[in-house]
Amino acid sequence: MADLSTHYLGLELKNPLIAGSSGLSRTVKGVKDLEDNGAGAVVLKSIFEEEIVYEYEDVLKEASEEGVNLDQFDYYDYQIKDEKLTKYTRLISECKSGVSIPVIASINCVYSHEWIAFAKKLQDAGADALELNMFFLPSDFDRTTEEKERAYFQIIEKVQHIVSIPIALKISYYFSNLGPMIQQLSESGVAGLVLFNRFYNPDIDIDKLEVISSNVFSNPSDLHMSLRWIAIMAERVSCDLAASTGVHDGNALIKQILAGANAVQVVSSLYQNGKGQIKTMLDTLEEWMAGKGFNRLSDFRGKMSQAKSSNPAAYERVQFMRYFGGVN
Ligand SMILES: Cc1cc2nc3c(=O)[nH]c(=O)nc-3n(C[C@H](O)[C@H](O)[C@H](O)COP(=O)(O)O)c2cc1C
Repeated sequence: MADLSTHYLGLELKNPLIAGSSGLSRTVKGVKDLEDNGAGAVVLKSIFEEEIVYEYEDVLKEASEEGVNLDQFDYYDYQIKDEKLTKYTRLISECKSGVSIPVIASINCVYSHEWIAFAKKLQDAGADALELNMFFLPSDFDRTTEEKERAYFQIIEKVQHIVSIPIALKISYYFSNLGPMIQQLSESGVAGLVLFNRFYNPDIDIDKLEVISSNVFSNPSDLHMSLRWIAIMAERVSCDLAASTGVHDGNALIKQILAGANAVQVVSSLYQNGKGQIKTMLDTLEEWMAGKGFNRLSDFRGKMSQAKSSNPAAYERVQFMRYFGGVN
């Protein structure tokens, strides 16, 4: 039998398939199901920055020590929402005692100072690592590119001061200079980067003239964005890479590892096909490895990265110079 184990964020995973952050991992039962179905690790449903609120006095004390202008606290609702936070830390500790696979906590964050102390509580509850889902849509016309990009590094630096568990950063591809930005983020001390997040997207109902949610799930053709960037960045980063978005079957899982991913996150396919899809995908991986004579993932990881592939230019081709495959 092939050895599917991998290292991600300094953690030993029995296989590279991580159940990504979603409603499937918001309860202990959900996480146990994911483990029972074969997931190598689980990222818990994110707690959102705006849900993280402290005892008011602690916040003010910490903020004034940091020299933060206290006026801006009017923007935030600092009621004590202890219940939500306690629920999240309880979810972590109960998952840790109920499952043996790594449990990665997740925080969805935008600004740097209000919630960071809370990260320590996630570590204390037993989280094996912390995934920061960080994003602001570049539709904020008041902040410059530099200011927006600097915020990422500031948040990472602050969280690193607070926790000692590995940190993964889950990002989008909305950067003006994506390759160098990914490279710089990989050098910021994070243990891993997750490429890429997928977002809620708006659509328009033309009968009701209403803005509605577009499909929340990805489809297999969404694979190519993360595949391209995992392949381009694989030999250029100083941390692990996890692929995310559009991985719906075993072939896509294999492609991401060939491109250079240390681990691969899956969500939509588990919603659409059920959690049994984890085993199906891992079976496909094992069968393919047996057919190719590969015994472990390191035998082929990154073999098709841009740096190692025989056709590196293919990853940079973006215009349809000629018709392909008979399309006309
Ligand atoms: C219903 C649903 C809930 C999600 N919730 C979160 C979340 O809380 N935090 C997060 O970082 N990503 C969340 N995601 C995004 C997924 O973790 C993942 O990045 C995205 O769905 C792309 O992967 P996929 O193509 O395998 O679905 C959610 C996705 C779905 C479909």
